Amino acid sequence: MIREEQTTIGFHVWGAEKLSEEKLTVLRLDNDGITYAMAVTEEGYLLHVYYGKRCGDDDLTYLLHLDEGNYTPQHHNRERMGFMDSRPFEYPCHGIGDFREPCFMILDGDGMSACDLRYKNHRIVSGKPELKQKGVSCIPATFAKEDEAETLIITMEDEHAGLTAELSYTIFRDRNVITRAVKVYNRGYGDVRLQRVLSACVELPGMDYEMITLNGNWARECAVSRVPLHAGKQLTDSLRGVSSAQHNPFMALCTPGTDEEHGEVYAFHLVYSGNFLAEAEVTGGKQTRTVIGINPYDFSWLLRPEEEFQTPEAVLVYSEEGLGGMSRTFHDLYRSHLIRSYWKDRERPILINNWEATYFNFDQDKLYAIAEEASKLGIEMLVMDDGWFGCRNFDDNSLGDWVVNEEKLKGGLKPLTDRINALGMKFGIWFEPEMVSDNSELYRAHPEWAIQIIGRDLTQARAQYVLDYSNAEVRDYVYGMLTNILNSANIEYVKWDMNRALTEVGSTSLPRKRQRELWHRYVLGVYDLMNRLTTDYPKLLLENCSSGGGRFDPAMLYFSPQIWASDDTDAIERLKIQYGTSYCYPVSAMGAHVSDCPNHLLGRTTPFDTRGDVALVGTFGYELDVTRIPAEDRAKIPGQVAKYHRFHKLMSDGDQYRLGNLFKDNTYDAWMFVAKDKSEALLTYVQVLGKPSEPAKRLYLRGLDADRKYFCEETGQTLSGKTLAACGIDVGLRGDFVSKTFYFKAEEA
Ligand code: DGJ
Repeated sequence: MIREEQTTIGFHVWGAEKLSEEKLTVLRLDNDGITYAMAVTEEGYLLHVYYGKRCGDDDLTYLLHLDEGNYTPQHHNRERMGFMDSRPFEYPCHGIGDFREPCFMILDGDGMSACDLRYKNHRIVSGKPELKQKGVSCIPATFAKEDEAETLIITMEDEHAGLTAELSYTIFRDRNVITRAVKVYNRGYGDVRLQRVLSACVELPGMDYEMITLNGNWARECAVSRVPLHAGKQLTDSLRGVSSAQHNPFMALCTPGTDEEHGEVYAFHLVYSGNFLAEAEVTGGKQTRTVIGINPYDFSWLLRPEEEFQTPEAVLVYSEEGLGGMSRTFHDLYRSHLIRSYWKDRERPILINNWEATYFNFDQDKLYAIAEEASKLGIEMLVMDDGWFGCRNFDDNSLGDWVVNEEKLKGGLKPLTDRINALGMKFGIWFEPEMVSDNSELYRAHPEWAIQIIGRDLTQARAQYVLDYSNAEVRDYVYGMLTNILNSANIEYVKWDMNRALTEVGSTSLPRKRQRELWHRYVLGVYDLMNRLTTDYPKLLLENCSSGGGRFDPAMLYFSPQIWASDDTDAIERLKIQYGTSYCYPVSAMGAHVSDCPNHLLGRTTPFDTRGDVALVGTFGYELDVTRIPAEDRAKIPGQVAKYHRFHKLMSDGDQYRLGNLFKDNTYDAWMFVAKDKSEALLTYVQVLGKPSEPAKRLYLRGLDADRKYFCEETGQTLSGKTLAACGIDVGLRGDFVSKTFYFKAEEA
């Protein structure tokens, strides 16, 4: 899978008659689907040769055109800058003649920023070593067993600055995936500041690509944007301290015309929950440099002698089967090599959350009444959302005071959870552990624990501040409060919320020289606490949330197998949100609930069945007062519950195919889930707008076995996979906002 080869190229240095030679060491990662190749020059420059579709076992270094006069990498070559500024580099450094987007930039003891990492050696290991940094408890990343992946670790050195950088590349045995990360080590000449340490750079040939990103806002997460590249830099990023609802840490470049099935896609995803940057630069030489990593904006990390710094992991997915192929690769990878929860392959309990049912206005009896009714309908868990602690009857107080409000819940949590458990239901609870309200006991006792700049006004958002999670004392204190609550009753689920971005980013506990590290130290602090929580309570079902999907990123998936996708619970808006989210994330991770109508956010009314079918494809639940909804809606819940139980495994383990695209055609959406062994499939169809005088909507099915015959329960027809793909089925319905599902079962072979 990973191998090293030697090759030699001949070239003429300008003005010289004699043919010169350059020896190159080629490092190559291959599996059946992809090839990734690099070359090391005699002077130790690490060049990028190729990434993409699996190619033959040929010498690929001709792609570098090193034999052309300007680009020869010889010592004292008068055209060294021509070489530096035009050749594709694996990990480009700032300040030495490559003026394109760099991955690495420092500030050394002399105040200099140039750096020059050169190849020293490499090693190959089976499997995938964990990402580690001394003093950091947990860095989320994909994992693999020894026989599932191989890792190449290339050691680079900047002798002048006394720095070593280990570039790691993991290739998964049977997935079109390379993961990359970088670890920098200060070998000891003096202090160095890391100003920019990105996780990966990949140079793609030419510039004829389209850039796809996932953008939005609160309640409108993961809207797909697709634009052709233009000369210069184009990027997606976050400066909010969280990965954000505005931009997901994802970027893909695809060949023009790429659709769900065809076209080449190079996708990049950062396993990180803080400020990120993903950028494509079309260079003067009409090549495309892509980089991804921690956003260098306002980042500076002091690296003292013998200290190390580990970047987050970048996941590179290649697909020659369009966007559908890209998504299925992400889904498979994340389901089996990123989510580590006890719950990852288990059917999640169908929950009812009281947020949209009661907001802050509830007590034990109200919650019990909801649970009692819900249990009769087959719902399996009650989640008590915001408002159970301190004196929280509105959103302007008590965050940080994680003690039960006994006016609402007399006797604490145990009496309530005991009653819920007696109904045969599980119980879950909401926290927002990273926050402190301006009006709270915690803030009054420890104002210094909020992220702040002393002497400046603190910007409030929802009347709250962000706790300084770079400070272990703060984390320990919060964790103590959480565990007191978790140990006080039978709590089997936690919704971990996070409802504001970071401002006045300063810490009262960090020294002046390390203040700019707070952005990243904050994220590491969050990981530390999530790691403790999931280690100490291994069977706890953790659901992440950040004002909906404001921190829906792969690092959060490492800790929590499901993430609340959006506060927008309107079934029609959800179609777009879930569509974009499914670009990278499996449906088993996508929190989706049926809510009441008119929808609290939009005022739109949709049929209860449609709300059920839209939520069905996610981690299913309800977000309504089941005691007050119309009786005919309530009567449908047992059927929806049964449907989820019936199809859950197929959807969460199967292959997903998107048959519609609401960003292009807003009249319908349709998804298919096909079992890995192709023995069954489910088609979900939502008609957003009915159309008069048109033929019924025809959907061409995907992913089925062409040679097998499938019986469709809804149409009563038996047709071959070949026919269903070529001729499709007609799914036209009457009306707006209506939905239908179709189940296909393969005949025994
Ligand atoms: C934002 C979340 O996205 C909602 O689901 C809800 O938990 C509220 N916070 C509670 O304040």
